Amino acid sequence: MTEPIEFDHPDVVLCPGGPLLLRGDHVVEDADGTPHRTTRPVSAVCRCGKSADQPWCDGTHKVLPDKLRP
Ligand code: FES
Repeated sequence: MTEPIEFDHPDVVLCPGGPLLLRGDHVVEDADGTPHRTTRPVSAVCRCGKSADQPWCDGTHKVLPDKLRP
């Protein structure tokens, strides 16, 4: 039996009402299937669909009414 791998922090964090946070090296596909690679320490992926910088969060979710937040 293999030992579970322990991490200091999760690679993916879901922010209630906001973006998905990714830590480290990831590839995210936008709605057209175009891959976007990030190697930033933390990247925020839009979940509300309103960001002008898709697939990344630009903070627009903060001004949305609660019922439109992810
Ligand atoms: S989740 Fe932040 S702009 Fe969409």
